[in-house]
Amino acid sequence: MKTLFIDCSPKKRLSASGFIATMTGIFVFGKKKKLKLRTRADHENILNEIRDADNVVFAMPLYVDGVPSHVLPFLKEMEEFCKDNDIKINVYVIANNGFIEGKQNEPLMQIMENFCIRSNITWCGGLGIGGGVMMNVMRIMIVVVFALTVLNLITTAINQGVFDTGVAVGFAKDVAEILVLGCGIIIFDIWLATCINKRKGFGKHYTRIMLPSFLFILAADIFFTIISLFKGGVFRGWFSRKKPGEQICVQE
Ligand SMILES: Cc1cc2nc3c(=O)[nH]c(=O)nc-3n(C[C@H](O)[C@H](O)[C@H](O)COP(=O)(O)O)c2cc1C
Repeated sequence: MKTLFIDCSPKKRLSASGFIATMTGIFVFGKKKKLKLRTRADHENILNEIRDADNVVFAMPLYVDGVPSHVLPFLKEMEEFCKDNDIKINVYVIANNGFIEGKQNEPLMQIMENFCIRSNITWCGGLGIGGGVMMNVMRIMIVVVFALTVLNLITTAINQGVFDTGVAVGFAKDVAEILVLGCGIIIFDIWLATCINKRKGFGKHYTRIMLPSFLFILAADIFFTIISLFKGGVFRGWFSRKKPGEQICVQE
């Protein structure tokens, strides 16, 4: 059984879609391949891999309540490709979005279901994840906690001459606390992977990061303010001086 994961995020690095595709791959058996879909140059390679695939898993962000625009030309090409070559594949979708409610991905799921019907391929359902950006926060937190634990172990070993095993227990507790936030995602993701392994339908399911909405909004505001500071100021460069070619054209 061959499963192809298509990471449809336009981000080069650190996309939530790429992360969830990799995580799902851990629980899927058989041959696996993960490819990025960012530009037209990626189409040919992906279509070649689809030729002998049994399952295709689209991992994508929700853009303006739908499928990101750079994915649409690919879907058009894939529709023709599947019809011309009589491709028989099972299609699953894992969508993630910025708002906290995973249910916001419903229109995207309907688009993908219609695409499968038109392409004569099997729609097997999808998972919609709300607060997807928090998956990035979680993995960054785990790396930071790990780095701090190693530092703690080394400094206590230097000061006291022994390795403090309590530090490792503390690390396990911290990781468990972080994973609680993602427990809905992990459980639904393992369920989806089980369906892929059994080659059966998953249906449509929606989950979210397990954080109360008011805390999510606060965390998201802090996160995006920090990101914005790194990417050109609090207002994402609104006040930065523009080069002549970058001026926005206003038609009269
Ligand atoms: C152009 C654009 C449109 C977006 N539209 C929505 C939207 O309609 N609803 C929503 O909840 N999030 C929206 N988002 C947020 C993304 O879905 C969210 O950041 C997602 O986690 C990105 O996933 P990725 O890291 O896999 O690219 C939008 C983001 C961008 C850049």
